[in-house]
Parts: sequence; C-alpha cells; structure tokens
Amino acid sequence: MTVPMPVPMLDLKRQYAPIHNELLDALSRVLVTQQFILGGEVAAFEKAAAEQLGVSRAFGCSSGTDALWLALAAAGVGSGQAVVTTPFSFFASASSILRAGATPVLADIDPVSFNLSPAAVSAVLDGPRGAEVRAILPVHLYGQCIDWPSFSQIAHERGLTIVEDAAQAWGAEWNGVKAGGLGDIAAFSFYPTKNLSAAGDAGMVTTNSAELAERVTMLRQHGMRRRYYHDELGWNARMDGFQGAVLAVKLKYIGAWNEARRALAARYHALFAKAGLAEAGTCPVQGPVHGIVLPRELPGARHVWHQYVIRAPRRDALREFLAARGIGSEIYYPLPLHQQEALKGLGYAAGDFPEAERAAGEVLALPIFPELREDEQQTVVAAIAEFFS
Ligand SMILES: Cc1ncc(COP(=O)(O)O)c(C=O)c1O
Repeated sequence: MTVPMPVPMLDLKRQYAPIHNELLDALSRVLVTQQFILGGEVAAFEKAAAEQLGVSRAFGCSSGTDALWLALAAAGVGSGQAVVTTPFSFFASASSILRAGATPVLADIDPVSFNLSPAAVSAVLDGPRGAEVRAILPVHLYGQCIDWPSFSQIAHERGLTIVEDAAQAWGAEWNGVKAGGLGDIAAFSFYPTKNLSAAGDAGMVTTNSAELAERVTMLRQHGMRRRYYHDELGWNARMDGFQGAVLAVKLKYIGAWNEARRALAARYHALFAKAGLAEAGTCPVQGPVHGIVLPRELPGARHVWHQYVIRAPRRDALREFLAARGIGSEIYYPLPLHQQEALKGLGYAAGDFPEAERAAGEVLALPIFPELREDEQQTVVAAIAEFFS
C-alpha cells in the first residue's frame, strides 16, 4: 500500500517563509521606537486597513472578541436590550452581546449560505421578543457576506443598528462593498487561523460613522477622553505595536491571498465534479444530505473562502477516515450556540433551530489556505472519493 501524502488543514509556515525578512524589519521598528501599545505601527495599519476596506475609520483592538464588545458598546447596546444573532457561529458572536449587558436572541440560518436567514430574523422581530431588539449581529460565516440587501432593508424599516461580525471575512464583498463597511459598525478578528492573521491575538473595529468612531476611541481606552478622566465604563481593548507591524505587512498581500483562495475553491469544485461526487450547491430543504453538498457563492457575494465547508453524510466517520490518512479537516461548529452549556440561561432547547442543528451534524471544513498545492487538493478529493466508494 502506498502511504498517502499528509495534507495539513492550515500551514502558516508556508505564508511566513516568503515574508520573513519584511516581518523582522517591521518587528524591529517596534523595538526601535519602543511603542508597544498602539503607537505608530498600529496607526499606520489602521489607516491602510481603512483605505483598503473603503471605510472612514478603523481601530486596532486586542482581539476579535474585544472588537465585537467594543462595537456593541459604542453602538449603545446595553442592559434591557436584545440583539438578534445566529446560533451557528463561534461562541464570541453571542458572548460579546452578554458582555455588553444585552441579551442574544437567536434566529435560524439559511441552509445554503449557513448565514443568518433574513426571513428567520424578520419572524423573530415580529414575535414576542421583537420589541426588545435594538440591533442585529449577523456573521459573514466562512468568508461570505450575509444577504446584504435583505438585512439592510430589515434594519432600515425597523430602525435597527447592524453590527457586522466580519471575523472571518477580510476582503469579502457584497456588490462591490467590502465587509466592514456594510453595516453601522463591524468587528474583525486577526486570530492566527484567520485569512488576515496576526502573530497572536488581535482584532479591529471599522465604521463610517464619526460619532461611533469617537465612542470606540474612548471605550478602547477605559472610557477616557482626557487622560485619567473616565466618562464611561470602557475597557482595555488596544492593539499591540507588534501586531500592528505584522498586520501592516500582511495587508499588502491579503488581496492576492484571497484571490488564491478563490482559485482553490474553484478547483475543489472542479475536482469534486470530476470525481462524480457532487453537484455544487444542491442542499435539500430539510432532512439529512445523501451526497456531498459543495459550498456556494451567492449572486452578489464575493466569497473569500476563509473556509471551504462541505456537507457530508456520515461526516464524523469521514473525518476519522481523513485523519487516518493524515488529512486535516475541522468542524465549524459541532454544537450550535443555543445548545452550549454556558448559554443554557438563554432558555432555548434542542430542536429550536433545526437548520443550525442539521448543519452542525453535517459540515466539514477541508484544507484551504493560499499556499495549498494542487496535488494536495487532489489527495483530499481522492480520499473522500475512496470513503464514499
Ligand atoms: C465568527 C467569529 N466571531 C468572533 C471571533 C472572535 O475572535 P477572536 O478569537 O480574535 O477573539 C471569531 C474567531 O475566533 C469568529 O470566528
């Protein structure tokens, strides 16, 4: 038996090698200036980031989680209010709402995009909890923007604030407008596995509103407008100089890296089709899938393929089969938020969000990162074909 070639889920060393010298130069500038918190490197990154996203202001933060909290707090979300979000996301999408003193109210996802369903959000807003809702916190999951025209209409008609969770979507667009500039305010994460990644924890808040920008500036520094005079209960949510320096270097390459991800996704599609394994984007409206379902880019969206996530029958057995061959994969996310122990207090139960629960049992993220090679993709698809043969 030939030993199959291992394929990593993510190999950041391949990203690092060609930019090693640039990164060292950038890091040494921080050492020379000794500006370890915010400072010139962070300010330069913020300026370049805002330009790239087409937003008026961008603020470097300590993490994506802190960025979400800051965005909510700046938007005035707090106690006695509710925020609608998705049950199918990373924990921070909901925990940041609780941290801001408000209550997450969940709505189910769209089974094709995995993003918050506008129809489900409208139903929640028309329901008994609708009156408490102050904001919507949609997540651009896996690198694809939410159905922006629908959300924009909902927010406009009902006077709600939109706080984008753009943690997985640097560079993603809806009709040419980049994530981070769609809603009132947005949060990004630069956690090392993200498509734009720091060398540690880091995040960013973006907005086009001068008023919200002023509040973020104040809240990010313990609620101070004047040094040691605290107007509101803010927090320490500042970005490190080293992270700003690293991110400013990577910002120059993220456009090309996202293009590479798009090419990889197109190749996965072609390889799966060639293997006779899937018709792209066919997802049954209800019930378990019978064949692999490939992810789909919605009309209007420019997906950056932060993750390439298929639905698969016998998903857990498939994942074990791949692992035995050294092929990485991941489940984002195995348990919806309404079923998490820590969020029991929200009062939801299994069965409340059937599409999120179905997705949790079927999704499998396959290796995708800009430096992934064609032979590695072929290995992944061949192993999946073998499993289903
Ligand atoms: C959708 C989503 N929201 C929020 C976060 C939180 O970001 P961080 O890990 O930088 O705090 C993440 C990433 O971990 C995420 O994927």
